[in-house]
Amino acid sequence: MNPSSLQSGATGQSAARPLGVLAALPQELGDLIATMQTESGVLTRTLGQRDYHLGTVHGTPCVVTLARVGKVAAAATASALIHVFDVDALVFTGVAGGVGPDVHVGDVVVGETLLQHDMNAEPLFPRHEIPLLARSRFDADRALAQALAAACERFVAEEGAALAARFGAALPRFETTLPRVHRGLVISGDQFVASAAAVNALRAALPDALAVEMEGAAIAQVCHEYEVPCAVVRTISDTADEHASTSFSSFLTDIAGTYSTGILRRFLASYPVAGR
Ligand code: ADE
Repeated sequence: MNPSSLQSGATGQSAARPLGVLAALPQELGDLIATMQTESGVLTRTLGQRDYHLGTVHGTPCVVTLARVGKVAAAATASALIHVFDVDALVFTGVAGGVGPDVHVGDVVVGETLLQHDMNAEPLFPRHEIPLLARSRFDADRALAQALAAACERFVAEEGAALAARFGAALPRFETTLPRVHRGLVISGDQFVASAAAVNALRAALPDALAVEMEGAAIAQVCHEYEVPCAVVRTISDTADEHASTSFSSFLTDIAGTYSTGILRRFLASYPVAGR
């Protein structure tokens, strides 16, 4: 990293501060660490049983790590990124189950708002409200989400047809039409949703939910509390029904990395850093 060559980041503060990039599982990070190794070399710090990789990726100084699975893991990792690594902003990449009626396997969802669907302190507080924070929904940073969505649109325009042709046959539930990019509500909970009954219950409770996963809203809460911008991008690996676990496993093994690699390359290459 060369801090003197950097200008302003997402917040307008010194871009000498790195961007935090995280996923739950290694397949969801794509080629990020390998690219960092080639581009700048990697400095790895281990903390709380996690490896934090520091270096530059596509010209952007980053700290890349795996949160592992679930809201506690995600919140702990976000907190370390903020307090130990002083990240400028935080971006989460990975897969999710499709919940919205038009959200198909192979589509991409950029979270504009995030909510913890398993938070329920009724009757003390309204369902989904985080006690003592007086809110249930946390907004992603608008500029970051816009930049991520633009990177996703470019990725789909440039690689979507080849992806559909390559993976449509291998994965029955992968739509053979061009993947679409959606923006809206992403919901998170400590539960892998894998039945029609469970996903229908989520749809009934949260009709505007587009995708369900297990980390994003926890990160959004921590980022809200510390006023750090964050954004979440999720590729749809399954539709949270009875086929979810097989669809998720195939997608994670064969496809998730291709999406993260392609989306993050475009996002990081246009992240505001001086001198390009
Ligand atoms: N991540 C990917 N698919 C998911 C599902 N069906 N439920 C929760 N998290 C997921």
